[in-house]
Amino acid sequence: MEFIKVKTYAELSKRAADIILGQIRRKPDSVLGLATGSTPIGTYEELIRAYDDGRADFSKVRTVNLDEYCGLSEKDEQSYRCFMNTYLFDHINIDKANTNVPNGMAADPEEECRRYDAVISSAGGIDLQLLGIGVNGHIGFNEPSDKFTEGTHIVTLDERTRNSNSRFFKSLDEVPRKAVTVGIGTIMSSGKILLLANGESKKAIVEKAIYGEITPRVPASILQKHGDLTVIFSEE
Ligand code: PGA
Repeated sequence: MEFIKVKTYAELSKRAADIILGQIRRKPDSVLGLATGSTPIGTYEELIRAYDDGRADFSKVRTVNLDEYCGLSEKDEQSYRCFMNTYLFDHINIDKANTNVPNGMAADPEEECRRYDAVISSAGGIDLQLLGIGVNGHIGFNEPSDKFTEGTHIVTLDERTRNSNSRFFKSLDEVPRKAVTVGIGTIMSSGKILLLANGESKKAIVEKAIYGEITPRVPASILQKHGDLTVIFSEE
């Protein structure tokens, strides 16, 4: 594991973007596992800047997002599909047909999970997985539980997650109670993992996840077993 501690969020974003850009240069048709939330926004801004400056070509890149709320359509501003278009895809030369986010409106959510696993395996798996971490240690929407999950599945969101994500909604009531998320098994089979955590509020959980006991009560703790994990933490 490589643990990179930086002072500012700007530095975190730059370091993370450099790692992703290096991946795309080495393998232009890389499969990137992408994340939503506040933390990766600066990284996405850096990727857009690299594209604008002619330093990055996303034309062959394929992406697989971690998760999506159940019941939100891609037109909903709070949906993760809308987030990805707004913060990244609309500003770079990626083919949207090569971008994947689970469908939170699927009539048969279980079938959607199987479809999403098939998308990931037919892409040949994930080369580089970008992750944030929840204050409860979740990665994707894999909430603390009794066992580590494998493939894509439907989860009931933890109340701490709903509370913390309510900042993006008009009220707590509007935050969906269920979501589709890729499983821990899928995340762990990625070639490389890049975990980003920003600020004091994440310090304790990052320490617990990276140096504490490996337990499904802290889902991110499983990352200790990954052979190519980079953690970037900013104190800001
Ligand atoms: P955040 O969320 O980046 O908005 O803090 C991270 C997460 O919940 O995975």
